[in-house]
Amino acid sequence: MISLGLESTAHTFGAAVANSKKILSNEKDSYTTKSGGIIPIDAAKHHEKIYKELINKALENAKISLKDIDFISYSAAPGLGPCLRVSQNIVKELKLPFVEVNHCVAHLEVGKFLTKAKDPVLLYASGANTQIIAFEAKKYRIFGETLDQGVGNFIDSFARYIGLGFPGGPKIAKLAEKGKEFIPLPYVVKGMDVSFTGMLTNLKQKYDSKKYKIEDLCYSLQETTFAMLLEVSERAMAHCNKNELLLGGGVACNTILQEKSNIMCKEKGAKCFVPENQYLVDNAAMIATTGISMVKAGYKLKTKDPKIYPYQRTDQVKVFS
Ligand code: ATP
Ligand code: FE2
Repeated sequence: MISLGLESTAHTFGAAVANSKKILSNEKDSYTTKSGGIIPIDAAKHHEKIYKELINKALENAKISLKDIDFISYSAAPGLGPCLRVSQNIVKELKLPFVEVNHCVAHLEVGKFLTKAKDPVLLYASGANTQIIAFEAKKYRIFGETLDQGVGNFIDSFARYIGLGFPGGPKIAKLAEKGKEFIPLPYVVKGMDVSFTGMLTNLKQKYDSKKYKIEDLCYSLQETTFAMLLEVSERAMAHCNKNELLLGGGVACNTILQEKSNIMCKEKGAKCFVPENQYLVDNAAMIATTGISMVKAGYKLKTKDPKIYPYQRTDQVKVFS
């Protein structure tokens, strides 16, 4: 079973090839802006321009030709309409059988494919998303999420404000290494949900006051943010009685978050799983492997009318098992 995976929910276009045992290639290219957020139409134009080249590269690196591909797995949901339509059109153009994959579920399923995790709670911490997802009572469910912006967007906003550029996550992490003094910041956990706008405003005010060292602000930002994320992750694990935590999303590349996740799991007698960075950020390998898992579990391949679902929620995903 060989699948070509396509990812195009937001600013990353990815193409990958996988079989039921292994990921054979994983190519990606991202649309970026110097300032401000993503313009969906421009991101889609970027994807349209590079998709042929990236698909060819993915096939080449996997040493596979298009006629060896059994089916396409594409990110049909959730995401930005114009971006989602790029993969939808590629599926129409290539005329191969296909599987419609949910991007958020793929972040979880790729962890199961790559690591020994069997039934984990996923802490999905990316630019646009912050969700705690687990499979429970026959559905993928969101146990907690951000009430405003995604954790990565929050970190990137502060980084932009202090002139670090985009993406800010790795730059904030570098400065945080030199931080020594912890500065209390708004810690907002409401039930199982988190919120970051209050902390962002407070950080900007503290930065403008010039009373604080920037390294200490970055250090405190990370300490506070990651403690919030792990508090809700831990509670979700206890609630679902699961003893595995899986990290996903670009912010999970942060080694301090990884360290803290490991410590939390160790203290609970649970296991922590962190896939390689290339599978944490948005990528097509996770779409290909999730498609394969779905087909193995009984998903009937489709042959006509590929759809997109920009607003599909994680608990609306049909499960095959
Ligand atoms: P999604 O569409 O799934 O929400 P995305 O495209 O918004 O994804 P990703 O590609 O998963 O996001 O991740 C990008 C985010 O990861 C950026 O906000 C970036 O700052 C952050 N990031 C990357 N490396 C690090 C790091 N070492 N520490 C903290 N944040 C990081
Ligand atoms: Fe993602």
